Parts: sequence; C-alpha cells; structure tokens
Amino acid sequence: MIHSLVLTKNLRTFRKLSGVACVLVGLTTATMVMAQGKDEPIQPITPVKVTNAAKVALGKKLFFDPRLSKSGFISCNSCHNLSMGGSDNLPTSIGDRWQQGPINSPTVLNSSLNFVQFWDGRAKDLQEQAGGPIANPKEMASSHDLAVDVLNSIPQYREEFAKIYGNKKLDIALVTDAIAEFEKTLKTPNSRFDKWLKGDKKAITAQEKKGYALFKDSGCVACHNGEGVGASSFQKMGVIEPYKTQNPAMGRAEVTKEDADRFNFKVPTLRNVELTYPYFHDGAAKTLEDAVMVMGRLQLGQNYTAEETAQIVAFLKTLTGDQPKLILPILPPSQNNTPRPKPFE
Ligand code: HEC
Ligand code: HEC
Repeated sequence: MIHSLVLTKNLRTFRKLSGVACVLVGLTTATMVMAQGKDEPIQPITPVKVTNAAKVALGKKLFFDPRLSKSGFISCNSCHNLSMGGSDNLPTSIGDRWQQGPINSPTVLNSSLNFVQFWDGRAKDLQEQAGGPIANPKEMASSHDLAVDVLNSIPQYREEFAKIYGNKKLDIALVTDAIAEFEKTLKTPNSRFDKWLKGDKKAITAQEKKGYALFKDSGCVACHNGEGVGASSFQKMGVIEPYKTQNPAMGRAEVTKEDADRFNFKVPTLRNVELTYPYFHDGAAKTLEDAVMVMGRLQLGQNYTAEETAQIVAFLKTLTGDQPKLILPILPPSQNNTPRPKPFE
C-alpha cells in the first residue's frame, strides 16, 4: 500500500516536472533545451575523475586476477565480464567447481552509482562488497587470508601496494579498497540518451522519443530515475500483480528479517541494459521485450501493445554509453612460494 502511495506521489511530481517544459515555449531554444534536460527525471552520467591512477591500475589487476579464487580460474571479470557489459549474460552465475549461483549477476558498470550494493543491499559500498565474492564458497571459494597470502608472495604486488599504501600491512581492506577504486572508473557516459538530455535533439529518433514518453508517462520513472536510471531505492517486485519465480531469494527481507521487505530488491540500473541480459534477479526474462512487458503489467498494471513495447525497448537501448576502454592488465607471475591453485578440491 505504502508503495502505491509513494508511486502516485512520484508520478504526480514527474507529471508536474514535464509540465514545466511546456511552459517554456516562449524562451530561446538554448534555454529551453537546457531547462528541458534539467527537469527530466533522468540525469546524464557525469564523467569519471581519476584522482589516484596507480590505485586504479592496481585495482584493475586485482579485478582480473583469477588467483584471488581457490581454483586459480575465477576472477571478478569471470562473472562481470567487461567485454560483455560487466555481466556474465547467464541467468545465474557459475561459481567454484561449476556450482550454480543463486542469483543473476548485476553489472559492475556504473556500480558506483548504486545507493547500496547487491540485490538485497547487504553491502553499503563497493569496498565492502568486494570482500564478499572472494570468500564466498559458491563464488571464488578462497578466504581473505589465502588471497592476501597469494598477493604477498608476489614481489611486484608487494611493491605496488607499498607504493600506494606506504607501510600499511597488505590485508584484505587494502585489496578491496584498490578494487573499489578501479570499479569507480567503470562509468559509461555519452550514451545517445545523455546527449539528448544535454540538448542534442538529433541524438535519439522519433521512435526512441516515444518510448521515453511512455517510460515517463506510465510511471517507470517512479523507480528508474536519476543518473543510474535506477539504483537509488528498494522496491517491491510485483506491486500490482505478484511475481512468480522458483528462485528462493527474498530480497531485502533477508537483511532486515521484516516480512514487509519480502521481495523488495534494489532497483537495478537500466544503464547499458541492452548488454546485460537476461533480466531480473532470477534471470528469468530472456529478452528486453519480456522484461518491459513484465514490468508494465506487474509494477504498473499496463498491458503494452507490441508497438509500445518496441518503443520502450528502443528507448532503453539509447542508454548504452561509452564502454570503459581497457588495456588488459599483465599480471605479475606467481613465485615458488605462492600458494598453488586448487581447481578440483
Ligand atoms: C561467481 C560469479 C561472481 C564472481 C566471481 C564475482 N561476482 Fe560480483 N556478483 C555476482 C553476483 C551473482 C552478484 C549478485 C549477488 C547478490 O546480489 O546477492 C554480484 C554482485 C556484485 C556487485 C554489486 C552490484 C549491484 O548492482 O548490486 C559488485 C559491485 C560486484 N559483484 C563486484 C565484484 C567484484 C569486485 C568481484 C571480484 C572480487 C566479484 N564481483 C566477483 C557474481 C560474481
Ligand atoms: C515500483 C518500482 C518499479 C517500477 C514502477 C518499474 N520498475 Fe523496473 N524494476 C524494478 C525492480 C525492483 C526491478 C528488479 C526486479 C527483480 O529483479 O526481481 C526492476 C527491473 C527492471 C528491468 C530489468 C533490469 C535488470 O537488469 O534485470 C527492466 C528492463 C525494467 N525494470 C524496466 C522497467 C520499465 C520499462 C518500467 C515501466 C514499464 C519499469 N521498469 C517500472 C522496479 C520498478
């Protein structure tokens, strides 16, 4: 009930906002375009400012280093493949010894915009998040001590840590700090939609514009808004109609133990959503069309026609931004005393 109230209030606010754009007709085109962009419920992605390039470079190595896993085979990039939109494009991930993961892997692109991390928000920020998968027996299946021992045994890593962190002891806090610093650079500015927001009227087509109008008018923006087009609140999956799934994940309730939080999930970002199929926490929606139709029906009671669905999908594809340009890091070799991988135990 509370959800529907919040939703209605947000909707009204957004309707009011879109009204503002119409009043501005008398003003010069330039002002109008600016005002239009500013009043939209979605804001362009601000570009990354790198303040500590050495830390980012170290974090990048760690992100790609499979030796942080017990098997020596799984890196962060295995499930957040930066060649594929920062996800694995699987319904649920594959972890140590080919274990089936419990939930869909969200993209790491723009993850610094998430107000909390994980579908259920159990980590407050990227650094806290990064400790999870390394020690998770179903993911990388190492331990924080073992991962640190591996890094400590490799002189190049020791030197790099020392250069950045001085004589602080190389521990998991430094490892996750560096990884988080790298992840903060994984933003995707300059999507066609952002160019349109900034005043380039030709950046999106008439069909895409219709899709955006529907996205706003039918109320998707109540939950998918801001710079991340989502990622700023927990919301119920299944507001109007319940969501049916075999997946046992309970969402936010797993953290708060409150019944009212059952099936509340962090609203995913829709940035680069074209690349991050399949969709939803259980990965059950294979296509963007499926996801849009389910959202319309379950969250808003809308039964979109095929044409309307195609328009919204076309709009969503304008949210694909510049992908991070990465040079694959070359990782320093293991030494004779480096703990060996255990892929089959
Ligand atoms: C075996 C696959 C796998 C590996 C390896 C893995 N992740 Fe993940 N990652 C996931 C899954 C699945 C989730 C969602 C889990 C959840 O919400 O309960 C996730 C969630 C995240 C999130 C939160 C994103 C969001 O929108 O909430 C970030 C950030 C992230 N991982 C970064 C990393 C980093 C950094 C590493 C390496 C240290 C890593 N992951 C290793 C599968 C993986
Ligand atoms: C009441 C809040 C709410 C509204 C309104 C809403 N969404 Fe969502 N959206 C969510 C939540 C929560 C999820 C994650 C659900 C899950 O995974 O179980 C989601 C997931 C999605 C996804 C899948 C993203 C991914 O990476 O898995 C897409 C696409 C999407 N929404 C599009 C839309 C569209 C289009 C509309 C309007 C028709 C809309 N949403 C309306 C809350 C909302």
